[in-house]
Amino acid sequence: MNKSTTAPRSVPVVARTPEELTRLRAGLGRLALVPTMGALHDGHRRLIATAREHADSVMVSVFVNPLQFGPNEDYDRYPRDLDADLAACAEEGVDAVFAPGVEMMYPGEQIVTVNSGQMGQVFEGEFRPGFFEGVLTVVGKLFNLVRPDIAVFGQKDAQQLAVVRRMVRDLCMPVTIVASATVRDQDGLATSSRNAYLSAEERESALALSRALLAGADASVTGPVGILSAARAVLDEAAVAEAPVVVDYLALVDPQTFTEVPGDYRGDAVLAVAARVGRTRLIDNVPLTL
Ligand code: PAJ
Repeated sequence: MNKSTTAPRSVPVVARTPEELTRLRAGLGRLALVPTMGALHDGHRRLIATAREHADSVMVSVFVNPLQFGPNEDYDRYPRDLDADLAACAEEGVDAVFAPGVEMMYPGEQIVTVNSGQMGQVFEGEFRPGFFEGVLTVVGKLFNLVRPDIAVFGQKDAQQLAVVRRMVRDLCMPVTIVASATVRDQDGLATSSRNAYLSAEERESALALSRALLAGADASVTGPVGILSAARAVLDEAAVAEAPVVVDYLALVDPQTFTEVPGDYRGDAVLAVAARVGRTRLIDNVPLTL
């Protein structure tokens, strides 16, 4: 059942404890969950719109998950503004918001966690040790608490989407994962809560990521080697800019397994990039068919 998106709606019901959640869940029917860390932007809004196409009700979870942040990452300074998030959810017609506290999600030491295997140890997993274990553990908890029929994840975090899909498959979780396309600002930068950290000069440099992916996509008929060298050329130029772009990785991978594709590959692939501009780390990708 689709609902109209036109007028702003009343503030969604908020659950902060498992008891409130259980009560709320009972009235929500076929439910799509959109897991987020808040600081909602147009990317999240697109996920919510996708969720509404697939279910009777939409729940957004807002939880900045400490388990997926490394010791030198931005857990403390990650933007938090629940009132703004609730207003955005109201505008998007979200039915319910689950906003648990840290004590609720992690009442004691988290001894048992979800291991993401090799596919969570490469690329993002290599540069952010423990990241996917933290993501999968919290997503698993959210699935068990909320019991959604559907959960929506962004293509923007392509490796996260792939490991979540794999977890659902390998652990027989009764939820259908739906992907939602990457939302970009007008200048091409993929929308992200972390873009707020960028100075004007850094933002200009950061545009090299989406430009590199576009250059790679334009070269897709030339095969993996041509794609990577076209994208690399753009990044090499940005590496010597006033605000330099420092690349962590650029890779052409299988979208399901996140292994690099061979030189003679034909089929679906993801061209993925991660780079730092100043203190801000950015990721982006584009799906391609070779
Ligand atoms: P967060 O970064 O808040 O992102 C929540 C969801 O929004 C993710 O599925 C992400 O891929 C999607 N998203 C973010 N920016 C997007 C964009 N520009 N276009 C499309 N989708 C976008 O990802 C997380 O939170 C966490 O790891 C989480 C899954 C909630 C677990 O803690």
